[in-house]
Amino acid sequence: MNVRKAIIPAAGLGTRFLPATKAIAKEMLPIVDKPAIQFIVEEALESGIEDILIVTGKGKKPIEDHFDANAELEGMLRNKEKHELLKIVEDTTNVNLHFIRQSYPRGLGDAVLQAKSFVGNEPFVVMLGDDIAKDEVPLTKQLINQYNTILTSVIAVMEVPEKETDKYGIINPGSSISSNLINIQDLVEKPNTEAAPSNLAIIGRYLLTPEIFECLEKQPPGAGNEIQLTDAIASLNQMQRVFAHIYKGKRYDIGDKFEFIKTTIEYGLEHDEVKSKLENYIKNMQLDIGMK
Ligand code: G1P
Repeated sequence: MNVRKAIIPAAGLGTRFLPATKAIAKEMLPIVDKPAIQFIVEEALESGIEDILIVTGKGKKPIEDHFDANAELEGMLRNKEKHELLKIVEDTTNVNLHFIRQSYPRGLGDAVLQAKSFVGNEPFVVMLGDDIAKDEVPLTKQLINQYNTILTSVIAVMEVPEKETDKYGIINPGSSISSNLINIQDLVEKPNTEAAPSNLAIIGRYLLTPEIFECLEKQPPGAGNEIQLTDAIASLNQMQRVFAHIYKGKRYDIGDKFEFIKTTIEYGLEHDEVKSKLENYIKNMQLDIGMK
């Protein structure tokens, strides 16, 4: 069955970015000039996803407005013959988006459970907004390609420094199937270095079969007293096989302040309007730092 649907959980409060996120959804913080969530939506579309459900919460209305038509703005740009900007604005509306609210912050697993009736009985992807992935083939497409051969759940993992395992879901890897596909023996959410079974961390892309909802419904709260998607995937792995896809492209963790700044600089260095100014600025800054 084709993978056509994606879920983007976006109900989190974004406390790591206060005060910026007091009145603005963290998903709307821009990387240069594009809201973070638009990178995720674009990856979904480039991967062939047709329908996207965004799980929102309080204060997330700007996300809905961002992907909705804005007749006044479009009319103004048309009148002023700002055709390029008009296209940029119109492009944000060419997507089948659906919204549902998670009423209580019970964790990522609970956010995904809100999508049960949207998903129905088909495989689907979960895409987390804090992870921006950049590779020749979009990461979600890589998962879909794996699914098309193995026809069962597959989640994206990547090596992380050993002292950072407590920020991630970590897999206990089994035997390798190929250079980028491995069996999973078990998964554990945010273990410390001593308890971590490996340094292969779940990054924010999952391709799951609908049986995950049975597991989520039975899932008691885990780490942080939240219903963890990682724990439900560990149960799913007992029912049917779940594989890990080893991602080798670039990943930006924009949920972290320093990484957010790095991401902005790297995307700035590729942005036609600012790249040469930014390059010069960085060169001069390096000279300044060198002189100190
Ligand atoms: C979530 C998941 C975790 C995963 C991570 C990837 O954690 O619970 O398993 O490794 O995303 O970014 P969060 O970053 O929301 O704390």
